[in-house]
Amino acid sequence: MNALRGVPGVRAMRVKGDAARADAVTFELPAGGDLPEEALRMVTALHRVVAFDVPRPKALLADAHVRTVREVLGDVTREAARRGATFHGVRLEAAGRESPVMQRLAQAYATAVGLPVDLAEGDLKVRVRPAREGGWEVLVRTTPRPFSARAWRVANLPGGLNACVAAAAWRMLGTTAEDRVVNLACGSGTLLIERAALGPAGHLLGIDVDEAALEAARANLAAAGVQAELRREDATATSLPNGACSVVVTDPPWGDVHGGEANLEALYGGLLDEAARILEPGGRALVIVHALRAFDAALAQRRDAWQLDESLRVFHGGHRPAMHRLHCTKSSGAPLLDSTA
Ligand SMILES: C[S@@+](CC[C@H](N)C(=O)[O-])C[C@H]1O[C@@H](n2cnc3c(N)ncnc32)[C@H](O)[C@@H]1O
Repeated sequence: MNALRGVPGVRAMRVKGDAARADAVTFELPAGGDLPEEALRMVTALHRVVAFDVPRPKALLADAHVRTVREVLGDVTREAARRGATFHGVRLEAAGRESPVMQRLAQAYATAVGLPVDLAEGDLKVRVRPAREGGWEVLVRTTPRPFSARAWRVANLPGGLNACVAAAAWRMLGTTAEDRVVNLACGSGTLLIERAALGPAGHLLGIDVDEAALEAARANLAAAGVQAELRREDATATSLPNGACSVVVTDPPWGDVHGGEANLEALYGGLLDEAARILEPGGRALVIVHALRAFDAALAQRRDAWQLDESLRVFHGGHRPAMHRLHCTKSSGAPLLDSTA
């Protein structure tokens, strides 16, 4: 939803149900209108939606309805070709998609665009579902791959951040050409690469303790053509001097991979302390966490160092992590929390 705010030409937006809980937004864009690149970076996928006032999907087999969908499929394949993309097969997604009616629909749509039906691998994705307002709707994904599958991602890391969420994080934090960015626990480099896509920065530095993660980050940065420094260090005790950077971003480990909630709270606390030490006074931070209670507990003990400015729950696969925007309220580069106290 935030991705579409302020986009010229977007005429109306409808969120299904509670906006904060919706992972899909329906909007109208005038013919020939386009969403800007920056907005698309935050969008997982775009679908053209056609609504039909029919009681059951069988009625979608009527010639007139198939023709309507064929026009949309034609627009989508022509537009993709204009951008140099090609579709290879039609994948129908629907409850009961193995039923004779759905199979006939899949075949009708595939024939319309001269492609085979390929329910497993098809990249022209067509979803048939009941419309919330009644009737049925057909959704056609406008690209062979979702936008979240970035061309630069040549190396995957378990727990890697969705690139759309990373782009949204930078939108929430804001950027300047002077940013000296440290990405603590940088993993495969998603936040660094999505920052670089927004324009030049003073410096980009990624820190991770795991060589395999840094290897993945190196490969992705190279594929993206992004220059960033990478260091193998413990992100809770880096070799950076006090006040070395203006921005810290991090999406530290989630769940119990690191020994459960208590360990996560200690890790988040350690990261907050180190971020406060390496940030210049007033420096900004963006933290993406899924273990919400552990992060809240760690932050509650550090209220003298941090001001929480904004929080937003986002969708990340089946998870609902939070993005927290904070700034550092300490007045000098010296650490506020003295571990010897
Ligand atoms: C959720 S992943 C980060 C994912 C990353 N944003 C990406 O897109 O690939 C968390 C990362 O934290 C790193 N990590 C965990 N504890 C750390 C520590 N103490 N110091 C540095 N890195 C750490 C892990 O090696 C892992 O790469």
